Amino acid sequence: MTSIVHEPVLLIETIKLLNLKPSDVVVDATVGEGGHALAIAETIGSTGHLLLMDRDEEALAIATARVKSLASQPRVSSVHSSFGFLRERLRELYIPHVNAILADLGLSSRQLSDPARGFSFLTDGPLDMRFDSKEEIPTAGEIVNTARKEELAKLFTEFGEEEEAEKIAAAIITQRKATPLTRTRELADLVARVKSKQTAKIHPATKVFQALRIAVNHEFAAIETFLPQAFSALSQGGRLAVITFHSLEDRIVKHFFLIESRGYEDIGQLIRHEARGTPRGTLITPHPIRPSFSEVTRNPRARSAKLRVIEKR
Ligand SMILES: C[S@@+](CC[C@H](N)C(=O)[O-])C[C@H]1O[C@@H](n2cnc3c(N)ncnc32)[C@H](O)[C@@H]1O
Repeated sequence: MTSIVHEPVLLIETIKLLNLKPSDVVVDATVGEGGHALAIAETIGSTGHLLLMDRDEEALAIATARVKSLASQPRVSSVHSSFGFLRERLRELYIPHVNAILADLGLSSRQLSDPARGFSFLTDGPLDMRFDSKEEIPTAGEIVNTARKEELAKLFTEFGEEEEAEKIAAAIITQRKATPLTRTRELADLVARVKSKQTAKIHPATKVFQALRIAVNHEFAAIETFLPQAFSALSQGGRLAVITFHSLEDRIVKHFFLIESRGYEDIGQLIRHEARGTPRGTLITPHPIRPSFSEVTRNPRARSAKLRVIEKR
């Protein structure tokens, strides 16, 4: 385990917009190392109840210990689970409604900096990328070594917005016929060799690694499953805050919040600009909140963050 500390993104803005009160019941659906959870716990105090969730068991253990070390800790429930199962988890805990829910998506600095997890193109490790290392799902290595060329190209285009997706997919197919790709360094070097358009600002393999991580963990499907469950779990006046780091991820959240705040039944009605129904929510952030220049300077990981908040009516 590494000792990298993850700096919570948009911390002050998130806590303010969650509108927390002492005694609130709150879910941190992606607790990570507990940066946001600590501030939530301090705000709701010893009469509050905080449910901590993460797909990463190690992160959950770190966060739970940190929150439980507070002098006036709230009641804490820790659940190792994907937020895609929020409804079941709340039912198991006999929690009918909650006052606030936070999902801070993506991966943490600790996960990124641990070579054994296989998330980073900067350090050498196995091509894994599962948030839950025990989950029996195909790893990044299995995808890279078994998917068809067209599937790889589609994945790099759709999840990574990678412009040279086809070229990279073709190079992977050629390479794996000789020897399978098993290490992050091998894949990062291959992408760097193949790409013609490179900038000094980001590593050439950034988008390919992001796309694989999203695919391995079915991240977009998990968010789509989570949002309606989270909104329906809120009590009247309760708030749901989501921090995204990817434009497609942000679009999923933006559309869901618009559907609820305009009283539509589905995305089709939103796209066709049909007459609005009865709103079920109020947009607290009509435009997403972005980190300040000083936050991005201090913590470059925050640069693509967008915070959106909705309140249940
Ligand atoms: C950006 S980090 C959260 C950092 C945290 N807010 C903090 O301040 O320390 C995102 C976390 O979400 C977790 N995660 C990703 N997908 C998840 C899912 N579907 N369900 C639960 N946790 C998930 C990751 O394991 C990671 O720990």
